[in-house]
Amino acid sequence: MTEEIRIGVFVCDCGSNIAGVVNVPEVVNYAKGLKNVVFVDEGKWSCSVDALSSMQESIKEHKLNRVVIASCTARTHEPLFKQTVKEAGLNPYLLEFVSIREQVSWVHMNEPEIATQKAKDLVKMGVAKAALLEEGEEIRLPVGKDCMVIGGGMAGMTAALSLANQGFKAVLVEKRPQLGGLLNLISTVSSDKELLSAEEIVRGQAKLVETHPNVVVYTNAEIENVDGYIGNYSVTIKSNGTRNNFDVSTVIVATGMRELNLEGKFFYGSDSRVVTQLELEGILKNNQLGDVKNVVMVNCVGSKNETRGCCNIGCHVSIKNALAIKRVNKEAKVYILYRDLSMVKEEHFHIDAAKAAGVKFLRFPDDRYPEVTKDNENLVINVYDILSGRAFLLSADLLVLTAGFEGDETIEKIKGHLKVSSNAEGFFQERHIKLGPLDFPADGIALCGCAKNPKTLKETIEEGMGAAMRVSIPMNNGYIEAEGIVADIDLANCNSCGLCWKRCPYGAIRVNENKEPQVVKALCKGCGLCAADCPKECISIVHYSDDQVLAQVEAALEENPADKIIAFVCHWCALGGVDMAGVSRLQYPPNARLIRVMCSARVSIKFIQRAFDLGAAGVLVAGCEFPTCHYISGNYAAEKRVNRAKKILAKKGFDPDKLWNIWCSAADGPKFANTMREMVRELHLAKEV
Ligand code: FES
Repeated sequence: MTEEIRIGVFVCDCGSNIAGVVNVPEVVNYAKGLKNVVFVDEGKWSCSVDALSSMQESIKEHKLNRVVIASCTARTHEPLFKQTVKEAGLNPYLLEFVSIREQVSWVHMNEPEIATQKAKDLVKMGVAKAALLEEGEEIRLPVGKDCMVIGGGMAGMTAALSLANQGFKAVLVEKRPQLGGLLNLISTVSSDKELLSAEEIVRGQAKLVETHPNVVVYTNAEIENVDGYIGNYSVTIKSNGTRNNFDVSTVIVATGMRELNLEGKFFYGSDSRVVTQLELEGILKNNQLGDVKNVVMVNCVGSKNETRGCCNIGCHVSIKNALAIKRVNKEAKVYILYRDLSMVKEEHFHIDAAKAAGVKFLRFPDDRYPEVTKDNENLVINVYDILSGRAFLLSADLLVLTAGFEGDETIEKIKGHLKVSSNAEGFFQERHIKLGPLDFPADGIALCGCAKNPKTLKETIEEGMGAAMRVSIPMNNGYIEAEGIVADIDLANCNSCGLCWKRCPYGAIRVNENKEPQVVKALCKGCGLCAADCPKECISIVHYSDDQVLAQVEAALEENPADKIIAFVCHWCALGGVDMAGVSRLQYPPNARLIRVMCSARVSIKFIQRAFDLGAAGVLVAGCEFPTCHYISGNYAAEKRVNRAKKILAKKGFDPDKLWNIWCSAADGPKFANTMREMVRELHLAKEV
């Protein structure tokens, strides 16, 4: 027997924040007449302790099995209301949240009637979705206490030691015969106004690592295979010719970086007097500088251009090495040709020390790199100095190029093993520059050190510790818990096309031995990209199923569709922008009816098409500003899909220009408000809807 749907609607006044504009009693009366609604309440402050406990009593008394809250924004208050209904015995996934403050009363302050009508529509849409909601549950995966650290440089050694000191087991896999990474190739590193021997630092750290009872070190090691996911990685490596298999629960990637190949630039590769900074480090380390008299360094070679950014450490390294040369040979003339000196405050003492030692600095323009020629086999550098406004001709018996960097040579293989990605500069790509700087998209894999971008030793050590902290959280808890908004695949109609597992940004869809896709729920983040792309419509997302979203579209367009815009808005930055417009009291036309999805990637062409079929004046897909989708690449997928949708709409005789998209940050209130104004103007819409 199917359960009777009993929806309770709780409409909040929010003091006068909502009730000062929206006629809340009218909304309450309207909600009473909606299908499946058995109880409606108006609350002065619905989030107050008293109101929450009265809500719990109402849920029990009226046997409510779905709840719609019409109040502020889901981004701040949804967790509170979810917890409240949960305590009343209702599955929290049976709650739907409607924003009539940020989306209505605060942005249509001078149009109470129109605002009230919009609030009614939003409540109707919420009720339509709520009737179709299904229970969900958080998912737990057990996580053990062992971690593989890939890369035995300073970041990897620090991470391994940090884990070991916390009582976890660390398996450190290093491709070279000894630990130390890049530090093995350089002479000195600077620390608080002094230069330290890189060799001594490596020796001290490696000893701690190699003698720690909780660390297993494999050198000369290559990773052959990694299977599984957080809690159950199974790894095969070959170390010193022997194959080893082991299981770990988490992984840290600390594979380091290498200099860009400068072959052919400034005679590099064809003239032994032209070297990179890293090669100069080796020369200094091995006391092979000889009797050089004229040294010229050229900074920003291969970096800080159209294809890659600042290398972060080049300025500092060039000055440090110039000083080192001066220390070895006081009489040597050393020139640093630079575009900009980008250094952190603590490194500035080097500039003063270098100037005091006689190092000369010449600043060349961004678009006018120094030219290197040969005059009777002498290297001659022609540089224009912006600061003095004149050109210099310098001769060099050692030309040092400050090369940019890229991830090391193992990056491609490791990407394949761990199913992670790299960026355009050849480094590993973190989950989110601000929200997950040391994480990969997949849970349980952290990233640190120069595998992410070039950094100083201090930063490398800090990141090594940071990455260890990231993986130690689930290892310490003993489990990882994922939200219940996940994908579910109905295999009945699936033809194993493979799109879902290929496109899942989290590697959360695996294929079993029968070639059937299966969702690893603990890894799924619920972005909905797979569901929107599945050609057979086999995939459903808990709380954002096709039926639920379409019910909202249909409810919104039941009346006056020709004046309405359906706006699909991602829960993160786009809804943040909407909320910011509200908080800033930006007034914009009331034509849009917003439908929240977790990511813009969830918006399938079917949703857009349905809105136009029902006569919508326009459709907007709003997501996070590039490149910061909270589901890695969802906004890119959404943009492609919107372009596809436009072609399909055109073929079907709809005007593709009525489909809009915007990508905004959570602070972009004005952008959202302006988009609303522009859409209403371009689509020639009436204001009263
Ligand atoms: Fe905003 Fe993906 S989360 S577009």
